[in-house]
Amino acid sequence: MNKSFASDNHAGIHPALLEAMIDVNQGHCPSYGQDPWSHKLKKLLKQEFGAVDSFLVFNGTAANVLSLQACLKSFESVLCTDVSHLNVDECGAPEKIVGSKLVSVPSQNGKFNLDELESIIFRNGDQHFSQVRALSLTQPTEYGTLYTPDEIKRLRVFCDQHQLYLHMDGARLSNAVAALGCGWKEILKGIDILSFGGAKNGFLLGELVIVFKEGLEKDLKFYRKQSLQLPSKTRFLAAPFLKYFENNLWYEIASHENSMAKRLYEGLKASPQVQMTQPCQVNSVFCILPKEIIKPLKKKFFFYVWNENSFEVRLMTSFDTSKEDVDSFLEELNNLLK
Ligand SMILES: Cc1ncc(COP(=O)(O)O)c(C=O)c1O
Repeated sequence: MNKSFASDNHAGIHPALLEAMIDVNQGHCPSYGQDPWSHKLKKLLKQEFGAVDSFLVFNGTAANVLSLQACLKSFESVLCTDVSHLNVDECGAPEKIVGSKLVSVPSQNGKFNLDELESIIFRNGDQHFSQVRALSLTQPTEYGTLYTPDEIKRLRVFCDQHQLYLHMDGARLSNAVAALGCGWKEILKGIDILSFGGAKNGFLLGELVIVFKEGLEKDLKFYRKQSLQLPSKTRFLAAPFLKYFENNLWYEIASHENSMAKRLYEGLKASPQVQMTQPCQVNSVFCILPKEIIKPLKKKFFFYVWNENSFEVRLMTSFDTSKEDVDSFLEELNNLLK
């Protein structure tokens, strides 16, 4: 079977991350975060990320929902983009579980437009309106675009002006950090709470809610349990994260994924029949393909049509996408375009 270009979570488990699970599969040890690996991970995130506290959960939707739950009361709302995973792909989980309103804001290349944000009318204090209390950005965005540390700084200033918490959905944050060539602390400056992803970078499962703003951690362990997201055998989630952060495995994986996407982007761009729709900054490529080649190409290399009207497709690379996979995809595409 050819590799899929549909999503980075179509890949299996990275061998080193699987090995980390096997390494800790010995004997008995305390559960629910009381094992040595979970303690070590919390310590590492304090040192490397500047975290106040961190919480392992099973999946990314839960990390987002719990992050918002830490920030919002039921009568408060969060600003998010119209294309955000929160708004489009979580089946209303934030609304159901947090009970809060999502305020969807038009986006540009997947990002908040800072000038448009300024025109949002806040009716905080008025009992008839849901009270805006947080802003959630995705880094990298659902369109594979990036906020620079300076743009995040501007969002922070905006949040401070309106007393909002700043949440980051970092399901693929490693790809962003590898692409920007900055440090964890630099990209996270001004962020109050983060959903940090594992699955998209080669984990079996396990994501983190990482708290930076003192006080937001207070009730999270209770919300996590109530939301059915407290794993018991936490050593198997914590150990792969330790392996990931040690010896820069995260960088190796993310920069490889990014460079494979760049190769794919350049190959597609060379074809006059293909229209690129987004810059390629991380591990996704967005372009419009001629309608007639989509079906036969998809049969050989699975991928998703992102926009059924325009035939814009999304192609994603994974930790195990090779140069040969990319070149075979391009060869097949060029044969179909002849
Ligand atoms: C940007 C973003 N956030 C959050 C998630 C949620 O992840 P999960 O499917 O693990 O709930 C995804 C998954 O596709 C995502 O792309």
